[in-house]
Amino acid sequence: MTNGLMLKAGQKARLVVLISGSGSNLQSLIDACDAGLLNAEIVAVISNKSGVYGLARATAANIPNIAIDHRAFDSREEFDKSLAQIIESYQPDLVVLAGFMRILTSFFVNQFLGRLINIHPSLLPAYPGLNTHQRAIEAGDADAGATVHFVTAELDGGPPVLQARTQIETSDDSAALSARVLTLEHVIYPTAVQWFCIGRLQMIAGVAYLDGTALPEAGIFFSGATEL
Ligand code: GAR
Repeated sequence: MTNGLMLKAGQKARLVVLISGSGSNLQSLIDACDAGLLNAEIVAVISNKSGVYGLARATAANIPNIAIDHRAFDSREEFDKSLAQIIESYQPDLVVLAGFMRILTSFFVNQFLGRLINIHPSLLPAYPGLNTHQRAIEAGDADAGATVHFVTAELDGGPPVLQARTQIETSDDSAALSARVLTLEHVIYPTAVQWFCIGRLQMIAGVAYLDGTALPEAGIFFSGATEL
């Protein structure tokens, strides 16, 4: 078994965070860094949309940030190539997708394989794609939640690391459910990212390992007691 990320004493992991919107998950990572709970430095925030609130959050935290409009490119491949080049220029240890609403090409995913992580607002493998909370409510599910997972070329299909769940109440609409799940996302994402940054978490041959042990298919169930 190889080791996960190994940094020199006193060194912090370099994170590049990709966003498309409000950036509340980005904020949870900024806050965890500021609180000394995350052994990491966010070296850049990149959005595929200009003017989104997440960019303002980055500016407020003095983090270099840029918008690269995907519509300015002829193809998905061209956009991903430029995006990958810009990301590499920041020499990231981990690329963190935090509400980045673009499907990535296999070229991009393979370039960052093992150092690319995402949070998705469902209990994967249920509900990959969009409108996850609405679909869970319409299906009459008892629970909804969020999953942190490594990214592979399959959409929302990489190995799960950490899952948090909440009961769906009869009064829930998708906005209420989404708000409740977001508060869980803000706990599990910094937790999983910290595991990676201190070398506990890694992906080898499509399997996620924590402390050298392969994780179960749905990842670890967040009980509220997971330490950060
Ligand atoms: C979050 O709920 C995240 O799980 C979801 O977008 C939201 C971003 O919120 N991501 C996806 O749906 C990815 N497929 P934020 O901008 O406030 O962090």
